Amino acid sequence: MKKRTIGIMGAMPEEIEGVVALLANPEVTKMGKRSYFTGQINGIDTVVVFSRWGKVAAATTVTTLIHEFKITELLFTGVAGAIHSDLKIGDIVLGKRLLQHDMDARPLMEQYEIPLLSKTYFESDTVHLAIAAKAVQKVFENKALHTVIATEDLMQFDIAQPKLVIGDIASGDQFFSGNEQKQGLATQLPNVLCVEMEGAAVAQVCYEYEIPFSIIRTISDVADDNSHIDFPAFIQKISSKYAAEIIKNIFEQI
Ligand code: ADE
Repeated sequence: MKKRTIGIMGAMPEEIEGVVALLANPEVTKMGKRSYFTGQINGIDTVVVFSRWGKVAAATTVTTLIHEFKITELLFTGVAGAIHSDLKIGDIVLGKRLLQHDMDARPLMEQYEIPLLSKTYFESDTVHLAIAAKAVQKVFENKALHTVIATEDLMQFDIAQPKLVIGDIASGDQFFSGNEQKQGLATQLPNVLCVEMEGAAVAQVCYEYEIPFSIIRTISDVADDNSHIDFPAFIQKISSKYAAEIIKNIFEQI
């Protein structure tokens, strides 16, 4: 059987800091302006890396994880802007289907279709999705966030009873920071829960190399006129704590 090695990617240094701290015997390899932290979590070989922003950065990073570090599974943790009106800051979205909202090769093919793959969405596999869902539920049930995040920080974002939602995530090389932009996407793609800038690129590469993946996103802003203020504050005070708690729970199940 192939040796198991789990790749963990985050799109911000703050998001992976807490995860790197979980590594036993940590070592770092620098390559292509990235630092790949290797070690073990609960005895399983793991590589943790900050992917940088956007689809190209994410795709090259996951390709390096596959070729150089021989990962067999991929977890992506990060933040996202809410598109669906039921989502609040602090909620978590697990990507069941990942789509690239800025892919448009019309009239050669349908809008959003990925050239040569005849696919619009990349789907997470159900086993990994269930493991991630259980890990997130456990964080919420144990009120783990209240022990690792200061109450005033949770209050600043009005995070009281965050929830888990599973569904469609849209990725593209755009930061959403206005109601008009948000409404445009919601009208075009009514099933999309949230937007971010990497998930569907990671999903495409994983699909092409047959690597199972989970995309785990915490809502940092609601992709509106305030998102450029909420996003950096959330990253600084909250998101790294979320990622580490979820990853710990995932490794307890695998
Ligand atoms: N990631 C977090 N918030 C986002 C937003 N508003 N747009 C795109 N990516 C994001």
